[in-house]
Amino acid sequence: MNAGIQYDPKNEAEVAYWNSTAGRHWVERQESQDTLLAPILTAALERAQARPGERVVDIGCGTGASSIELGKQVASGQVLGVDVSAPMLARAGERIPPGAPIKFVRADATTYKFEPAAFDLLFSRFGVMFFAEPARAFANLRAALKPGGRLVFACWRKFDENGWLQVPLRAAQAHVPPLPRLGPEDPGPFSFADEARVQRILADAGFAAVKLEPRDFALDIACGRGLDEALQTAMEIGPTARALQDQNAEVRTAVATSVRHALQLHQRGNQVPLGAAIWIVTATNG
Ligand SMILES: C[S@@+](CC[C@H](N)C(=O)[O-])C[C@H]1O[C@@H](n2cnc3c(N)ncnc32)[C@H](O)[C@@H]1O
Repeated sequence: MNAGIQYDPKNEAEVAYWNSTAGRHWVERQESQDTLLAPILTAALERAQARPGERVVDIGCGTGASSIELGKQVASGQVLGVDVSAPMLARAGERIPPGAPIKFVRADATTYKFEPAAFDLLFSRFGVMFFAEPARAFANLRAALKPGGRLVFACWRKFDENGWLQVPLRAAQAHVPPLPRLGPEDPGPFSFADEARVQRILADAGFAAVKLEPRDFALDIACGRGLDEALQTAMEIGPTARALQDQNAEVRTAVATSVRHALQLHQRGNQVPLGAAIWIVTATNG
């Protein structure tokens, strides 16, 4: 599952996860995920201000939505999408418009040997929270930036501020064992929620002018397609999906019933809007 890729051995579990359950769900749901997370991509791209001719690394590019948008913006420049997930990169590769200046590489951003001091911008939407050694990963990434180059990424704030993930997991918890309690330094979707930790990691990696801007969204987890779609999103993405990984059909059915009830309380016509809280993090190389 992890064959054919060099990675930090400490990232083994995440590499396996993104090449199995998570990778499969993100590929199956690619169109829905792109719709669901589009407002966040727009906000992060607005901060990044990629310009024609620039060279950009898209960290944890997944199925390629952000790489494709960045490719349009840099035009004669270049986008290098880096990701550990073979299935997600395969989908990304299928989607590149002909002639777009985009390349994908299957690699761990912690250890990949980027061309040194070659890139203008490091960008990511939710692709940087899964490093076991984040300061090492960001130091490796910073070495790829030109002096004065920019870092811009979106990451989740606290679980408790993200109703779109919290509502389903709380409903599922009646039926599944609690997820392993993550330590403050463990990788995972909320590992960059703490502002002081992000500041420390990026300072240790040598970045300057680090800023975290809080942004709040109402994400329609039904993508305008009603409660069934909302339920599917809730069951297949994020911590509820992790909690369901090794569960049998009976448990899944019980969870689905509870989650459906919980989501119904938030339904507005064909939409199920729930709160999402992110940081947009910016920094520079010197
Ligand atoms: C939550 S998904 C986000 C995907 C994409 N950026 C998006 O917003 O649609 C996280 C992505 O980070 C990737 N990832 C996790 N650990 C990584 C690592 N060490 N190096 C590169 N990519 C990694 C995963 O494979 C996955 O594609």
